[in-house]
Amino acid sequence: MNRCSGFFVAATDTGVGKTVVTAAMALALRERGQSVGVFKPVQSGFDRDDPDGDTMLLRRWLELDVTPESLNMAAFGKPLAPLVAARLAGEEITLGPIVERSQQLSKQYDAVLVEGAGGLLVPVGETWTIADLAIALGYPLVIVARAALGTVNHTLLTVRVARSLGLHVAAVVLNASSGADEASNASNHELIAEFGDVDVLGPLPWLGDRVDGDAIRSRLVPLLDAARLDALAGSAR
Ligand SMILES: Nc1ncnc2c1ncn2[C@@H]1O[C@H](COP(=O)(O)OP(=O)(O)OP(=O)(O)O)[C@@H](O)[C@H]1O
Ligand SMILES: [Mg+2]
Repeated sequence: MNRCSGFFVAATDTGVGKTVVTAAMALALRERGQSVGVFKPVQSGFDRDDPDGDTMLLRRWLELDVTPESLNMAAFGKPLAPLVAARLAGEEITLGPIVERSQQLSKQYDAVLVEGAGGLLVPVGETWTIADLAIALGYPLVIVARAALGTVNHTLLTVRVARSLGLHVAAVVLNASSGADEASNASNHELIAEFGDVDVLGPLPWLGDRVDGDAIRSRLVPLLDAARLDALAGSAR
């Protein structure tokens, strides 16, 4: 199948910056003249129309003129793994409709960015995890990881598991998890690139409490090599 370019934005953990990095990548690709479709198929912790949830944050930061329903297909208010939240709500999240929606987006846009939920092996359906979703959608992975001590192990584990499942890892993006000056930043970058044999971008800096579209555009986008992203997306098409 001829897919448009894009990425599945996965992570070593929840709360490491997938939404922030997805927004930065979307703005970077847009600056290169690409139209970008964004998709957060599964969200827990916030209802779909909660202004603090990923769906509405991405919609606001990227000034997307689309309905929240078109950005997200399953949302649960409880801060639980999606499978657990869905079971509590008496629902089952199924892969088919998510794949169909992603295919529609790939026809509408030059590039599609799909944000996962939590880390790579988080269960979503009764028999499938975020990794299975990434496999079904077919986009190369960008793995977002904390720029802090301890990240080397989590990131290499995630890269290894992704590859063992047949996923193509396009890059790792290190993202600051606090304003602290991390002594490990330079060595983290080097060790992950060397032992993971993977492209590493970042670390993206901490933006403080004011995270919004302007801050992401002015402070993070210049640090993402959009030409490289473009090539990485295209190489795995
Ligand atoms: N570079 C940064 N500077 C400042 N704050 C950041 C940065 N990156 C992430 N954050 C903040 O850290 C928190 C977690 O980030 P984010 O929501 O992007 O993580 P996530 O991996 O998408 O989490 P989830 O698994 O819930 O989708 C958010 O409050 C976000 O605004
Ligand atoms: Mg998120």
